[in-house]
Amino acid sequence: MKTLIKNGTIVTATDTYTADVLVDGETISAIGTKLATPVDRTIDATGKYVIPGGIDAHTHLDMPFGGTFSVDDFRTGTIAAAHGGTTTVIDFAIQERGGTMRAAFDTWMKKAEGKAVIDYGFHMILRESTPALREEMGAMVREGVTSFKLFMAYPGVFYMDDASIFRTMQRSGEIGATICMHAENGPVIDVLIEQAVAKGHKAPKWHALTRPARLEAEATHRAICLAEVADVPVYIVHLSAAEALEQVTLARDRGLPAFAETCPQYLFLSYDNYEEPGFEGAKYVMSPPLRAKEKQKELWRGLRSNDLQAVSTDHCPFCMKTEKQLGKDDFSKIPNGAPGIETRMSLLWDGGVVAKNITMNRYVEITSTSPAKIFGLFPRKGTVAVGSDADLVVWDPKGVITWSVKTHHMNVDYNPYEGRTCQGAPLIVMSRGEVIVEKGACNAKPGRGSYLRRSPRA
Ligand code: URP
Ligand code: ZN
Ligand code: ZN
Repeated sequence: MKTLIKNGTIVTATDTYTADVLVDGETISAIGTKLATPVDRTIDATGKYVIPGGIDAHTHLDMPFGGTFSVDDFRTGTIAAAHGGTTTVIDFAIQERGGTMRAAFDTWMKKAEGKAVIDYGFHMILRESTPALREEMGAMVREGVTSFKLFMAYPGVFYMDDASIFRTMQRSGEIGATICMHAENGPVIDVLIEQAVAKGHKAPKWHALTRPARLEAEATHRAICLAEVADVPVYIVHLSAAEALEQVTLARDRGLPAFAETCPQYLFLSYDNYEEPGFEGAKYVMSPPLRAKEKQKELWRGLRSNDLQAVSTDHCPFCMKTEKQLGKDDFSKIPNGAPGIETRMSLLWDGGVVAKNITMNRYVEITSTSPAKIFGLFPRKGTVAVGSDADLVVWDPKGVITWSVKTHHMNVDYNPYEGRTCQGAPLIVMSRGEVIVEKGACNAKPGRGSYLRRSPRA
């Protein structure tokens, strides 16, 4: 199958220019003007942008967490992602205590196989650090799992002590892997939670009030120090606090390989959402929590200056009518997480490019190119170039979406951005040369998505 995308304006992390893109099979075979070759289909992209498909480097599909499972699986979640203009996800497999990473990898491969409509890779969440597991990290890297997520939060669930973190970091450094860190001081947060609950503070807003920004900053600082001594790159996931960003900025100014992502919820929602009436605040119970609105400009500064390299979603949806009800009488039992896999690309275009917080090229960089580079997918993914996978979005800068639970494709019973209108929307979404979303419909066959074996650092 040959497709010609004609007259579009190609936007990459570095360039903006008008040209035609020839897609032959699964990859881009030529970019130029007056490409004279017979094709099966021509797509007219006049007045539109042609951008690389979004890469969401942080999703939790079909994830066991908080006594339940996130409600999007690899079918519903990747269909929603595709509708939003995302063509690659990197999800998290979870090593069970006492179990192997091989077992976790196999479990997550089974979760995705036959379901995913876009390509996917895995990070590995490690709950413990034994000599056997550290040895096994090498085998995981050979399978293409080249990043390991560790938690300084959630004692008794995912939490790892500093010595275990440090040993895992050292091993990661040896094998060219990257450490992804959930940086919040979990043990101290647990004290604050215990004290709040003892005083009868049970409403959702107490989730945020017991997770102060300073404890995210402290853990971020500690993670960076440990990584510096262990000689390994560290990527701070779902950074929410300006105080934590300050630590990343200081580290990067010292030339350290410290990276960080933020998420749309931290750019477009705020602590004020926890003050919504009744149990509504549970919609926004995620960790780290939403922060003060006036601090959002710091995150935008970080995105502009490359102190923040990526915007991922941390998509981890739970329904208000069911899973979130587990915490109806106690905020500490509300499953942590919120939906966002579908909304990211439009929110970022509208609040970033249209609102002039970032350029179009920077938009492409933080939604696609940087995650591809950091996580070993570039140049196969993350750019519009000859030889790259034809994961392309024909982006309509005049397209308008009003977000609603009634029309979104995520399998969750609320939308955190209900009623919000965004300018900028995907018109056509192509994954490895196949048009998977067109005219608002996803025609992709579940299971067409492929596992991505990611490269370690050179
Ligand atoms: O609240 C969150 N972030 N839920 C997903 C798990 C995690 O820590 O990323
Ligand atoms: Zn996390
Ligand atoms: Zn997460």
